[in-house]
Order: sequence, then C-alpha cells, then structure tokens
Amino acid sequence: MTPSASSSSDPGGTPARELFGSKWGFVLAAVGSAVGLGNMWRFSYVAAEGGGAAFVFLYIIMIGLLGIPLMLCELTVGRRTHLSPIGALRALGGKGWVPLGFLFVTAGFLILSYYSVIAGWTLRYTVEAATVGFAADPGAHFGEIAAGGTAIMWHLIFMVLTIGIVMIGVQKGIEKAATILMPTLALIVVGLAVWAFTLPGAGAGYAFYLQPDFGDLFDRTTIRQAVAQAFFSLSLGMGAMLTFASYLSRDTDLNQEAATISFADFFVAFAAGLVVFPVIFALGLQDSVTASTVGALFISLPGAFLEMGGAGRLVGFLFFLALAVGALTSAISLLEVVTASIIDELGMTRARAAIGVGILIAAVGILSALSTDLLGLIDQIAGDLFLVMGALGMSIFVGWAMKDDPSAELRRGAGPTFARFIPGVVFLIRFVLPPVIGIVLIFSIQDAWGAITSFLAGG
Ligand code: TRP
Repeated sequence: MTPSASSSSDPGGTPARELFGSKWGFVLAAVGSAVGLGNMWRFSYVAAEGGGAAFVFLYIIMIGLLGIPLMLCELTVGRRTHLSPIGALRALGGKGWVPLGFLFVTAGFLILSYYSVIAGWTLRYTVEAATVGFAADPGAHFGEIAAGGTAIMWHLIFMVLTIGIVMIGVQKGIEKAATILMPTLALIVVGLAVWAFTLPGAGAGYAFYLQPDFGDLFDRTTIRQAVAQAFFSLSLGMGAMLTFASYLSRDTDLNQEAATISFADFFVAFAAGLVVFPVIFALGLQDSVTASTVGALFISLPGAFLEMGGAGRLVGFLFFLALAVGALTSAISLLEVVTASIIDELGMTRARAAIGVGILIAAVGILSALSTDLLGLIDQIAGDLFLVMGALGMSIFVGWAMKDDPSAELRRGAGPTFARFIPGVVFLIRFVLPPVIGIVLIFSIQDAWGAITSFLAGG
C-alpha cells in the first residue's frame, strides 16, 4: 500500500489529485465497475436471444479483439493525463475532441438513470427473499413491481446509496466498498454455480449455453449485440475506465490490469450463465427467457427459487444480494464519470457535484421506473448505440488523433510478459477497431432507429 503523488509531467492533471491508495484498489474498483447487472441481467437475456452458445462464442472473440484493446485506449489516456474524460480529450487532442467527452458524460448519465431502476428491482427482491419470500406468481409479481410507485421508491433508495459512496471519494468510498464487496460477490456466484450443477435436468441448460450452432455466428444482430455487450460489461465506451485510470500512479502495468479486469468480468458473466441456464432448463422456464423481455431474469429465477422451497429462498436471497452488490459498485463508476467531469470542468466540490447530478439522474430515472418499454429503449440507445459511438471515437482518438504515441504510455510500467503484446495491441487499435466498430455502428444505428420508431408507434 504505497500512497503515490501525481507526476509533474502531466499535461493538465491537478497536482493534488487524489490517487488510489494501492494497486489492488484500482483493480478492484475497475472490476467492481465491470461486474454488475450487465454480467447477469443483460448477459443472460442477450445470450438467450442470440442463441446461447453462439452468442457466448462471439462474445469471447469480441472481448479479445475489441474489448481489451479499447480498455487499453481508455487506460492510457486516463493515466497519461490524470484528468476526467472531457479534460483528457482536450489536453491530448484539442478542443475538437470535447464533444466526444460530452457524449461520454451523456451516456453515463442516461445509463445510470435506468440501471438504478433495475438495481432497485434487485434490492427489492433481496429484501423480499429475506422477509416474505418470493411471490407465488413471479410473472404477475414482476408486472406489479417493475413500474410504478414502488419501482420509483427502490430506484431512489439505490440512487441514495450510490450518491453517498461517490460523495465520500475515491479512497475511502469507492476503494473500500470494492475491496470488501467484490470478493464476496465472486464467492456467492461460484457457490451458486456449483449448486446449480447438482440440479436434475441441468444438462439441457449446459447444452444450450455451451454448444454453439455455428449458423448463428453470422447473424447481424447477434454480432452487434455481442460487441455492445462486451463494451457494456467491461464498462467501455463512455470514459469510465479512463476516469478510474486517472487516479492511477505511473508504476502499474496497464496491460496486465486490462487482462485481469477483462478476465474477472468474463469469469463472473460466464459463472452467472452457469447458474442461470441450468436453473432455467431444470425447471422448464426457458420460454420466459427467450421471450427476451428486460424482465426475463427477474421472472424466471424467482420462479425457479420458489419451486425449490426453503433452500431456494436462501439461494435466491444470496443471488439477488450478489446482484445488488455488483450493481452498486458499477453504478458508482457511472456516477463517478459524471461527477469527476463536473468537478474538473466547473470546479465544484465533490459532495456538491455528486449530490446535484445524482438528483438529476434520479429524476430522469423515474421515467424508466414508470415504463419498462422506455427502460428497454434507453438501454438500446445509451447502453448500446452511444457506447459503440464512444468506442469508435475513442479508438480513432488513440490510434490516429492524439498527440502522444499510445505505445509510450503502454510501455510505462509494463513487465516483459505483457510488453511483448504492445505492438500487436497498437495495430489492433489503429487498423482493426475503427473499421470493425464502424460497421457495428451502422447496425446499431439501424436497429436503434427501428426500436425508436416502433416505440413511438406504441409497440
Ligand atoms: N459494466 C457494468 C455492468 O456490467 C455497467 C457499467 C458500469 C457500465 N460502468 C459502465 C457500462 C460504463 C458502460 C459504461 O453492469
């Protein structure tokens, strides 16, 4: 645990900027950001939609090909400048890049607004499991609680928790929370996966999850969703990793950290799939998942836990507790991007910035707490389209536009194991990311447009 000071050669970082107290603090906070509702709620329903194993296969490829290089883009820019996204882009690229920073902040604002509603459902299910047990008809129950007064209440409770931690600041708030909560989460999910293995009839779930039908690999929507899910799950495309890396001192190996974070994130999503799919198939609930509503996880799993009696209630309690914990450490990072930008751009204090913008986000989130359809639409626009746009901008910025050579910052602190990969990573950033993400962006725009028009048409 070595406290470190900001380097004087930063192009713009404030000398007194608070840094992570230890290397593990950063890794845990970044893993905490990555691991969240995306790994369970979003991963399982998108995987189910994309044909299960085919999606998982594409998802793994996209993490390696696009996710890790993009994470390195964000980490280099954040650590190089010790600034939040808008300032960092301005410092290394000039004023013309400021709009990309605004896109990041807008995406963070919008994602948190509905993310908190889903986290609110999770909190509610955790408390219900502990007090009254899961409702007798989970589908009807979800329909009652997903939108309306109580959804708003739990959403606001979750926002208060998030704002509280971000107010306290990097070391005492975020780092402490992540250090305690992330290992707990990993243990619970692995325990559940082992438990799910013992269920009779789990085999069909494993087959669906792990045996790809290679025809699905060329489906345009499956490809787009695998890319967007990789960005969403790794917290990429809106400057969250950039912001965390801005609290990082110079002596860490960014390449190693990107590998650690990506592996941990994939591990939890994969393990969550090893819980969700066997449970669903063991209980014949696959229809409620492939119906692909945003609520699939919240209908099918409580249904499963319910049929298992007392043990199911305990397991269900642990599952939703784990999910709520993961959601909180992710929400922290979403609010941190917006808060840090306000602190740096407007010179506000941390407490004022976090409370002020937190209240605005909570207010906008009420709309998602009133309509699950609107929630799904905002997820597609901010959690999918905006992230793909942000990712494209970021890869062009680091590969072609910024004044620094990205490999210099990647080399700083890099050990021999990972230094070897740097030329390859820079090649990917320059020549593979922009065209591939560009194509995906076209798909995303088309699909988002379709979603908006059908939402406006009332269905
Ligand atoms: N990665 C988180 C999850 O999987 C969500 C999240 C946190 C996020 N910060 C982000 C998504 C930044 C995109 C960008 O639940």
